[in-house]
Amino acid sequence: MVELPSDPLQCPLPDGAVPESVVVRTEEHWVAIMVMMLTVMMVIMVVTSLVGALHPASNVEVIDSRTLHLKGEFVESNLGTALEPDGSVTVRLIAQQYDFVPRCVVVPADRPVKFRLTSDDVVHGFLLPETNVNTMVVPGFVSEVRTRFARTGDYLMPCHEYCGLGHQAMWARVSVVSWDHFAGQSLLERTRCATQ
Ligand code: CUA
Repeated sequence: MVELPSDPLQCPLPDGAVPESVVVRTEEHWVAIMVMMLTVMMVIMVVTSLVGALHPASNVEVIDSRTLHLKGEFVESNLGTALEPDGSVTVRLIAQQYDFVPRCVVVPADRPVKFRLTSDDVVHGFLLPETNVNTMVVPGFVSEVRTRFARTGDYLMPCHEYCGLGHQAMWARVSVVSWDHFAGQSLLERTRCATQ
């Protein structure tokens, strides 16, 4: 018969049990991996915010989503692209199930462009791939994002926040054209590119 050691910690473990030293070593490895992942993510956040101007909105602006269509900045006649006196451009859009209004806007390349968005129903998302534009659109708030398009072309504008059964079909378009082309367009043409 085998004699058991008097110290219970020295007793052989039952089949399948893992010794404490192995558990501690494994835990330490996983903590180190987690810290490394967090560090990499923090570095990505800092670098993209400094290099690509990708950062959370710095303004908090509230609006009454029940009266959007009746008065104020987001009435229908005020939506779309507007040219400011300083030569910059402001684009006003409403996100709603399941569309952006207007569905397409024209903006000039190489000029400061400011997007102002709000929602009249649920939370939507607004993203322009390969730019710094990426924001949530929350009812009751105005989301503002500033950018400058380096090249002309069409940018698709998918809603990237699940907003209901038609979410996957919620797409719109930003058409970036040269300044000369933009200046030659009428106000109506700048919001009618969806039908061209
Ligand atoms: Cu709007 Cu998803």
